[in-house]
Amino acid sequence: MPPRRVLMAPGPTNLPPAVLQALIAPITGHKDPYFLTIMDETAALLRYVFQTTNETTLSLPGTGGAGMESSIANLVQPGDTAVVCVSGLFGARMAEIARRSGAEIVQVSAPWGRPVDPEDLRRAMAGRRVRVVTIVHGETSTGVLQPMEELSEIARDNGAFLVVDAVATIGGLPVTPDAWNSAICYGASQKCLSAPPGVAPVTVSPEAIDYVRGRGRYSPVPVWYLDLAEHSAYWFAQERVYHHTAPVPLIYALHEACRLIAEEGIEARWARHALHQQALVAGLEAMGIQLFADPSYRLTTVVSACVPKGVTDARVRGELLSEYGIEISGGLGEYAGRIWRIGVMGHSANRNNITLLLSALEGLLARQGYGSVGGAGVAAADAVYASLLTPA
Ligand SMILES: Cc1ncc(COP(=O)(O)O)c(C=O)c1O
Repeated sequence: MPPRRVLMAPGPTNLPPAVLQALIAPITGHKDPYFLTIMDETAALLRYVFQTTNETTLSLPGTGGAGMESSIANLVQPGDTAVVCVSGLFGARMAEIARRSGAEIVQVSAPWGRPVDPEDLRRAMAGRRVRVVTIVHGETSTGVLQPMEELSEIARDNGAFLVVDAVATIGGLPVTPDAWNSAICYGASQKCLSAPPGVAPVTVSPEAIDYVRGRGRYSPVPVWYLDLAEHSAYWFAQERVYHHTAPVPLIYALHEACRLIAEEGIEARWARHALHQQALVAGLEAMGIQLFADPSYRLTTVVSACVPKGVTDARVRGELLSEYGIEISGGLGEYAGRIWRIGVMGHSANRNNITLLLSALEGLLARQGYGSVGGAGVAAADAVYASLLTPA
């Protein structure tokens, strides 16, 4: 029996009991009429979660990385120009995938901890015919939210397809692919949606799916398994053309997770994430812990905090896990050992978890000689809850 954990890394999250139940429901075939109905309902629920009217809204088998690979493989052809916005690990991963697709890459970079500057994108696009612009909406490696409006206008004015990585944000804060005019926007099941890892929700604009179908005649998508025209034929064509054996239990679970989101209401869910992030931030600051990302572009779903001087990151995270069963993440790349990344995501985003983490952290930091006023973190979080929560 695996241990029970309090999952507060940036994914996976704890699962609501109803989602766990869905995972052990009787399995059906992937073309069983019952399952096809569940697929239809899942597509409709995903349209709600993505706040989109795109018909081609479905889930791909595979994790968030399948959404990333698929977006680029479907839109980019060898020799095309791809402008890739990079402000952390996941932007850099998109650049690598685009490079492997045979595109000419123009990288628009921002230092880790900051979003990409729209002026830099404008300069990079000037005088170029660009097939695709890629942007990470929530950079999980740094806890930075990328403001989308200006960047998406620049891509639209240039006539480029816009790809948005919403892996860290979908279901946790406003993700609006229609307003951004994005060609493809993708997420992952295991973060703010609180479904198990293994499927990647994707929404594709009518223009983008027409383009993918059209190129099939002269320049087929090089990765057959991730060809969106093939997936679309299985999800939406009258004859539901076989493409792969769908991960049936994972789709049951995604369906249930999205149904719970609809029940909560997407705006209420965004507000819940913002509330618990504010409480966590207030608690950390009251303990004298510095936040990594500037408040003006701080992600609500991933809080990045600096490991205090003299404190050993690995020891704190190890003790959080072994003594309290709490998982948080460390920094990546050059920030390994220097920052913590705490998920405020989906079912894990609740007051009990925030309070437990702040209280546990205070004790573990004191062991390493880092002192703050006893109980200050929890008290500050409580004050946020007292001011923002209306009594039931
Ligand atoms: C922003 C972002 N994009 C892509 C991915 C890749 O997702 P996965 O690990 O599910 O393949 C992640 C994973 O954390 C992510 O945070």
